[in-house]
Amino acid sequence: MKNQPELITLTNPRSSAAEAYRALRTNLTFAALDKPIETLVVTSAAPGEGKSTTLANLAVTMAQGEHRTVLVDADLRRPSLHKIFGLSNDQGLTTMFVEPETLQNPPLAETGVENLLLLPSGPLPPNPADLLGSRRMEEIITALVTRADIVLFDAPPIIAVTDAAVLGTKVDGVLLVIGSGRTRRDHAQRARELLERVHVRIVGAVLTNMPGDATIGGYYGV
Ligand SMILES: Nc1ncnc2c1ncn2[C@@H]1O[C@H](COP(=O)(O)OP(=O)(O)OP(=O)(O)O)[C@@H](O)[C@H]1O
Ligand SMILES: [Mg+2]
Repeated sequence: MKNQPELITLTNPRSSAAEAYRALRTNLTFAALDKPIETLVVTSAAPGEGKSTTLANLAVTMAQGEHRTVLVDADLRRPSLHKIFGLSNDQGLTTMFVEPETLQNPPLAETGVENLLLLPSGPLPPNPADLLGSRRMEEIITALVTRADIVLFDAPPIIAVTDAAVLGTKVDGVLLVIGSGRTRRDHAQRARELLERVHVRIVGAVLTNMPGDATIGGYYGV
């Protein structure tokens, strides 16, 4: 496996950061009283708050906990999960919109982590929100859910574009990443409003960039 500096859950599973991801996994596992969360989207108010890093480490932690996990790069504007795992982005989510037969056989990439498959973004489309809001996207989600215990979607920040809100309406819950000391309070509040307006279920929030901690530093329910 390649050197993957962002994946502290792989490189240093005994660190306090990896422990925080395990706590997040536990919290998410018990967040749903009626039925387990099968599909989850991550977003943040603004760019660069640590969404992709957080989600990739959560996915590794889920897989380490023996959940069959599919990680999907639904950030069709600035995809980065393939880079974090050192994989190609030639085929992925957008391929499934243009090649209908891939519904039966999605172009899932082995990550080198047991129980963890990646669906990269694929080539970038001109109209990400239209794709994510389409009926075909629902079929894709259903196809992925049959192959996994949990499907995790990366998405763009929510204040600038609607992608995360659109996708959020099609999944069980949304996880809000908040860059500590970075996200403005009014922006975090606005992000929450934008999600609540479309009746998206916010299942939790993760604080990143805590001083003195290399990855996530805290979790609280909202
Ligand atoms: N908890 C963290 N502590 C310190 N640096 C971090 C943390 N999480 C991510 N980073 C670094 O911050 C940068 C942005 O992280 P990342 O790509 O995960 O954010 P993002 O919210 O997905 O960004 P984008 O909005 O561009 O998709 C990266 O260089 C990453 O290595
Ligand atoms: Mg990202």
